[in-house]
Amino acid sequence: MDKLVIRGGRRISGSVTASGSKNSSLPIIASTLLTGNGTFTLHRIPDLKDIKTFTQLLHHLGAETTFADNTLKVTTDKVTSILAPYELVKKMRASIYVLGPLLARFGHARVSLPGGCAFGPRPIDLHLMAMEKLGAQITIETGFIDAVAPNGKLHGAHIDFPISSVGATGNALMAAVLAEGTTTISNAAAEPEIVTLCKFLIAMGASIKGTGTTELEIEGCQSLNATEFHNVFDRIEAGTLLAAAAITGGEITVNGVEPEQLKSVLKKFVHAGCSVETTKNSVTLKSSGKLLPTNITAKPYPAFPTDMQAQWIALMTQAEGTSHITDKIYHERFNHIPELNRLGANIEIRKNQALVHGPKTLSGTKVMSTDLRASASLVLAGLVADGTTEVLRVYHLDRGYEKIEVKLKSLGADINRETYKEF
Ligand code: EPU
Repeated sequence: MDKLVIRGGRRISGSVTASGSKNSSLPIIASTLLTGNGTFTLHRIPDLKDIKTFTQLLHHLGAETTFADNTLKVTTDKVTSILAPYELVKKMRASIYVLGPLLARFGHARVSLPGGCAFGPRPIDLHLMAMEKLGAQITIETGFIDAVAPNGKLHGAHIDFPISSVGATGNALMAAVLAEGTTTISNAAAEPEIVTLCKFLIAMGASIKGTGTTELEIEGCQSLNATEFHNVFDRIEAGTLLAAAAITGGEITVNGVEPEQLKSVLKKFVHAGCSVETTKNSVTLKSSGKLLPTNITAKPYPAFPTDMQAQWIALMTQAEGTSHITDKIYHERFNHIPELNRLGANIEIRKNQALVHGPKTLSGTKVMSTDLRASASLVLAGLVADGTTEVLRVYHLDRGYEKIEVKLKSLGADINRETYKEF
C-alpha cells in the first residue's frame, strides 16, 4: 500500500494549474452511453482511480475507450449489456450514474445497489423516484435495481426533488434527454458539475433550458450524437491547494480556474485573513501567516461545499480562536476529526457541527485516511505539523487528487510517496 510521508514546516508557494474535475467527469462519461453514434473526445479528464473504475464499468457494458494526456476517447456503439455488476459498483458509488443513460437508451438497466459509505448514509431514493416519474418500473431484488421503461421508452414528467441532490439531478437529466416529451425538474442541483453536464448534453444535441438554475426544462429528443468536449476545472482540488498555501503562510497562484465557482470558498479565505486576487482564469492567495477563526456551513452550491469542509477544519486548527464548522449535507462527515486530534488539534464534535479551537501546534505522527476529503485534510495538517506525518491508506486520496504530491512538491512541500505493508 502507499503512504505519503510529509516533513512539515515548508511554505507552499508558487503557481500550479488545476486539474479537470472528477465529479463532472463521471456524469459526462456516463452520458456517452446515451448514443451509439460516433466517438467522443473528452479533454481535461483527470488521471484518477475513480475515472479508471468508471471506464472499467464502461468496458464491462461493451464500450471502447483510450486515455492519453488527459484526453479520454469513448465509443459506445457496441454497448449491449445493461448490467452494472456489484464488483464495480461497490468500488464507487457514482456508478449509479449509468442508471439513467442505460434506461433511456435501452429501456432497461440493472444496476447493483451501492454499498455503505465511509461518512454516513447516502441513500439513492431520489434517483429511483426520478426514474419512476419518467415512467420506469423499478424493482429491487437480490441486491440489484432493475429498471424497465414500458415499451422501451421513458416519457417526460415533472420531477420535484424534496432536497437538492447532485447525483439524482444528473441521473434525471441524462434520462430525460431521450424521454418522449417535456420534463421539468424543480429544486435541481445547480452545482458547477451539473452545469457542465448540461453543457455536455447540449453539445450532444439535447435541448435543456435553465442551465445553472434550480428549475430545468428538458425537451426529449429522438437521438444524440458523440461530441468533443472540454471538462471544467476541479474546484475542490483548487480549494485544497489554496488551503495548502494558507495553512503554511505561503502564497500561491492556481491557474486554469473560473473564480466565480470558488466564490464561497474565496470569501472565507478573506474572512480568515488571507488576501485573494482573481483574474478571469486564476486565483492568487497570500497568507499573512496569521489566520483568523471563521464559521462555515456546508450547503448546496453556491454555498460553501461539503467537499471542502474537512480541509477547512484542518486550516482552522491554526486560526487564533474558535471556529464553528457545520455540515448540512452530510451530518456525519467527520472521520478526519479524531485523526486531526491525534496530530494535536483540539476539535469537538457536536451533532453536525465541529468546534475547532485554535491555534494548536500539530506534531507529526502516523494517521489513517478514511475517505477522500478526510485524507486531504490530513495532508494539509501534515504540511504544518512539526516533524514527520505519515498519511496511510493514500488510495482514498488517489481517487480524487491527480498527482497531489507532485503538485505540492513543485510548490515547496517536503512530501514523498512510499510503499508500506499493513499488518
Ligand atoms: N440524498 C438522498 N437521496 C438520494 C440522493 C441524495 O437523501 O437519492 C441526500 C444525500 O444523503 C445528501 C444530499 O442528498 O445528504 C446531497 O447528496 P448528493 O446526491 O448531492 O450527493 P452525491 O451526488 O451522491 C456528489 C459528489 C460528492 C459531494 C456531493 C455533495 C460525485 C461523484 N459526488 O455526491 O462528492 O460530496 O455531491 O456535493 O459527484 C467527493 O468528491 O468527495 C464527494 C463525496
